[in-house]
Amino acid sequence: RSWQPASSADNDSSGSGPITVDDVRALREQFLDFMLGYKFAIEEITTKINILREDFNSTHEYNPIEHVRSRLKTPESVLEKVRRKKYPMNLASIRDNILDIAGVRVVCSFRSDITEIRNMLVGQEDITLLEERDYITHRKPTGYQSLHLIVSIPVFRSQGTEHTPVEIQIRTIAMDFWASLEHKIYYKYRGEVPANLQTDLTRAADVATQLDEQMEALHRQVEHTAHPRPA
Ligand code: GTP
Ligand code: MG
Repeated sequence: RSWQPASSADNDSSGSGPITVDDVRALREQFLDFMLGYKFAIEEITTKINILREDFNSTHEYNPIEHVRSRLKTPESVLEKVRRKKYPMNLASIRDNILDIAGVRVVCSFRSDITEIRNMLVGQEDITLLEERDYITHRKPTGYQSLHLIVSIPVFRSQGTEHTPVEIQIRTIAMDFWASLEHKIYYKYRGEVPANLQTDLTRAADVATQLDEQMEALHRQVEHTAHPRPA
């Protein structure tokens, strides 16, 4: 798929000439249809995660997923990123370069849940792992921690199959808490966070890591203890 001039009958056949209202309308339709594929991809991934959650709950009597959120990048934000990264401004280029139009965030209780959920998703036959960034083993300098996967999933549409990328962020509650606060601060200062605040944020990230480690250890202890049932 690519941007193509609208093929209305009275159009200049050379494709040059001024852009007409019909051309703009056709481009807009194409773009909205393109974006719809990403909405469907989010629905596919969300369904998969919900199935895992319910299945895990029923077979292990344990729920590793605290909550799931998703977001579809707005058309404005897609175009802004294309401009910022200086990618060619056409649909084929957007499809190949912007891999986070569809985003799903999975928040887990414990660190070990992250790997477990990652493996359960990546192991599925219709999911292809395109990219993986482990910001947990390699925390970002800001303090940001999360496991990022870019996966491709087939979306079966009326016109055919579209293999669509989805960015999946998997993190613990503590990592998520930190990231949401940092995000607010980052926006408040328009990306120029004062050094002392940045230092405090990095310290808070250390505390989040410690909390995750302690919770993981507690979780293990409980798992390895026989549970006496009330008589
Ligand atoms: P983008 O151009 O922003 O997509 O960056 P990228 O392609 O290099 O991807 P990266 O893995 O760095 O980040 C993707 C997403 O992770 C962002 O859109 C945020 O949701 C999240 N993220 C990455 N770094 C940070 C951070 O330092 N703080 C917070 N709060 N979120 C972050
Ligand atoms: Mg990205």
